[in-house]
Amino acid sequence: MGKKRVIVTERIADEGIALLKTALEVDYRDGISRDELLNIIEQYDALIVRSVTKVDEELISRGTRLKVVGRAGNGIDNIDVEVCTRYGVIVANTPDSNTISAAEQTISLLLSSVRNTAWANNVVKGGIWDRKPFRGMELYGKTVGVVGLGRIGSMVATRLKSFNMKVIAYDPYIADERFERFGAEKKTTLEELVKESDIITVHTPRNEETMHMINEEMFALAKDGVRVVNCARGGIIKEAALLKALESGKVASAGLDVFEKEPATDNPLFKFNNVVCTPHLGADTFEAQKRVGENIAEQVMKALKGDIVPNMVNLPSMMSEELDYLRPYILLAEKMGSFYYQLEKSAVSRVELTYSGPISMNETEILTVGFLKGLFKPVMDSKVNYVNARLVAEDRGIQVYEKKEDQSSKRYKNIITAKVFNHNHQLEISGTVSRGHDPLLVEINGYETETVLEGYVIMVENHDRPRVIGPFATALGDENVNIASMKVARKTRGEIAIMLINVDNHISDNVLEKLKDLDGIKERPRLLEF
Ligand code: NAD
Ligand code: MLT
Repeated sequence: MGKKRVIVTERIADEGIALLKTALEVDYRDGISRDELLNIIEQYDALIVRSVTKVDEELISRGTRLKVVGRAGNGIDNIDVEVCTRYGVIVANTPDSNTISAAEQTISLLLSSVRNTAWANNVVKGGIWDRKPFRGMELYGKTVGVVGLGRIGSMVATRLKSFNMKVIAYDPYIADERFERFGAEKKTTLEELVKESDIITVHTPRNEETMHMINEEMFALAKDGVRVVNCARGGIIKEAALLKALESGKVASAGLDVFEKEPATDNPLFKFNNVVCTPHLGADTFEAQKRVGENIAEQVMKALKGDIVPNMVNLPSMMSEELDYLRPYILLAEKMGSFYYQLEKSAVSRVELTYSGPISMNETEILTVGFLKGLFKPVMDSKVNYVNARLVAEDRGIQVYEKKEDQSSKRYKNIITAKVFNHNHQLEISGTVSRGHDPLLVEINGYETETVLEGYVIMVENHDRPRVIGPFATALGDENVNIASMKVARKTRGEIAIMLINVDNHISDNVLEKLKDLDGIKERPRLLEF
């Protein structure tokens, strides 16, 4: 099979491209036209964009091979995530890779606008030595209003503290503790923040709620001579309102990295000397672009391999510590999922998952989709991923139920139990994570075991009597199969037992057929692969 193909439609760092090339065929088409992209998208398994390429239903529906859209950066307002989810396409971004650069660019725009640096630079280079028009304002002792105290807003807040500014912030979606942590005084309304600020800097995403949130009414409430900075997204500060406020002198200066229409080439705000503009440079540092390029390349490669993608946007968002904690359980859930179709050939009608113990306090949706991904893996292989697994279940009419229990009733702290039903019977398995990383099956259909779900596992039912297990192991040895570990479980003495044997190598169908004929072996052994 040839390499999978990725198209990169905007500029990303060479390091990212180099990394992609280690595993994929890469078409680096910076600035490709919309029409051309629409025509060729069907040839690609992955698409990498920044903020300009519009990823909407028209594009996604034509990308019939597309498994992942990588956003080399943070904001996802150019990507219709809901549509991607509907088509089972993973969307991943790099939210932490450029935050420092964006925060520093905010400070740079703030300083250069309040000190008229850019304007003075132009004048002095024009051969005029004059200081009068450029008198600026000190930050010391002033109040800065930070709108949105997320990753970048909080970095801006802590940096401005070192200028001895008073920091106030408005962000209705975060806990009070976060305001305290970043030394920001909480304002419960935007109006309050606007009234008290000497400088307003916005750091929210752009969405229906935040579009034009700093508008004519807000400027009317603001102090005369207020200064504004937008290094987040164009339109959070309404440009038409800002234009009027600059004309009237209400706003003394502005620093803008982003615009309502980008690329911005003839924006009316460009005419003001006291407005400093940059062409969406917030993330454009060598350091950030290297991080962003490498990070998105890694995530796209992971997505195409079916691995966990750390910054998957179309799954419940999780802090990286929570994802680190859940990661071994996600893999466990996937491996448990892959049991069913390795054992059964009939269609699944219902899946019931129970999460018991402290894991149940977490975002368990990722465990459920992990289980479903594993369930369909033997029949769909790489066509199923964390985003489309639920859709695949829905399409196949499989009902999925989830239950959480604070305490595990078994002797393990955390347990995942899965019941998979088909038309006439059910498979019930339970698993946990041992030694912090090993996926361990602890029960199958009422038989207790401790089998690591790794590599090849032979599963076979036998009669619970002497001279069955030994000859079976000997027969494996005769076939040059090395046993790594072995568990035998029974429910009632003298009846049926089950052997789960981890072996080091693959076993052919012929050998499995021979093993079936050994005395005391009830059925043809199954070779499961995890
Ligand atoms: P983030 O998600 O970490 O933080 C955003 C914060 O805004 C959150 O705390 C959220 O609660 C808050 N918020 C949401 N709606 C709000 C509202 N109506 N009022 C007040 N607060 C609200 O995001 P981030 O990583 O800090 O990014 C902030 C912005 O910067 C985004 O728009 C992002 O796209 C942009 N960005 C720009 C550049 C650039 O090159 N200029 C680079 C990186 C990020
Ligand atoms: C972002 O959201 O990360 C920024 O817009 C940076 C960019 O893509 O250039």
